[in-house]
Amino acid sequence: MAVERTLSIIKPDAVGNNVIGQIYTRFEAAGLKVVAARMAHLTEKEAGGFYEVHRARPFFKDLVGFMISGPVMIQVLEGENAVAKHRDIMGATDPKKAAPGTIRADFAASIDENAVHGSDSAENAAVEISYFFRATELCPRTR
Ligand code: PPS
Repeated sequence: MAVERTLSIIKPDAVGNNVIGQIYTRFEAAGLKVVAARMAHLTEKEAGGFYEVHRARPFFKDLVGFMISGPVMIQVLEGENAVAKHRDIMGATDPKKAAPGTIRADFAASIDENAVHGSDSAENAAVEISYFFRATELCPRTR
């Protein structure tokens, strides 16, 4: 199996609910390792740029407004099949449809405020990681 990296964001609702640690525990239990992390309060420009592909969607303005409503915790996770593994433990976009025991089922209130973001492909992960981190900020986990 391939070792991959994925971009993960703990969104303002989950940060506000003070569950960063509980969500990190889910990452670690799934065998995902943190290789970079930082907290940030995104600007409208930063959040809009990150979600550029969704600019034409009806929810774009609300999504950006939500993502700048408070600090987020941004991390790069590494592990075997990290992209799919991270999406599995996040659960479906709409928490009402998320499988029991997933992060969104347990920590998200609605599709508008759904606790976490995760890259949807290895290709997009590379783009998203470089949006928030310089290559020198990624710390290979050798032990
Ligand atoms: S798609 O079609 O697969 O690209 O769409 P999806 O991945 O489901 O959603 C893209 C991002 O938009 C968020 N989203 C929403 N935000 C606010 N309101 C509504 N109705 C809504 N629907 C989807 C969704 O959480 C995705 O954001 P990220 O950060 O990637 O989870």
